[in-house]
Amino acid sequence: MNQSARLAVFLSGTGSNAEKIFSYFKDHPSICVGLVLSNNLEAQGLQRAIKFNIPTRTFTKQQFRESDEVLDWLKESEITHIVLAGFLWMIPINLIKAYPNRIINIHPALLPKFGGKGMYGIKVHEAVKAANETQTGITLHEVNEKYDEGKIIFQATCNVLSTDTPELIAGKVQALEHTHYPTEIEKWINP
Ligand code: GAR
Repeated sequence: MNQSARLAVFLSGTGSNAEKIFSYFKDHPSICVGLVLSNNLEAQGLQRAIKFNIPTRTFTKQQFRESDEVLDWLKESEITHIVLAGFLWMIPINLIKAYPNRIINIHPALLPKFGGKGMYGIKVHEAVKAANETQTGITLHEVNEKYDEGKIIFQATCNVLSTDTPELIAGKVQALEHTHYPTEIEKWINP
């Protein structure tokens, strides 16, 4: 019997991965997206959630870090698992304690390389290029108190050509993200 789950998706920007997740779980028999949250009122991902009729919430740094308000919203929405999809703030300890091993993140490189604070978006791909890597990819990992250091759940790789620009690398990595994130979330919940 599959475990049923209600996901909260946290995002800070475009939300292209979030949209793939909304779409994949739209008519899923046991997993749904119950809430979308952002630190950024202008995040495009919030508009994507509204199109899927998913409730949204936004919060300030103070609400997130210094109160239980966000945790209370998650409880009210009966959220069982948290998915980070381009969310750029560190998750506070109250959420990590409330959702042990139940928070997942996607990182656009092969951790432990090219991770840590400040490593997001095009900066990651610029660093991959500068290091003359011949491969890069994506990492899905559980979230703990440290940036990008939780247990690795899944990685997929792609080649980097010497002629690739950071933008070209970003495109290859994004294609991997869109292909794998929804299905790997499903396997993570119901192995
Ligand atoms: C994704 O590439 C994701 O891996 C990255 O932000 C992008 C969000 O894109 N996350 C990180 O860099 C976390 N350190 P999206 O908003 O279009 O899904």
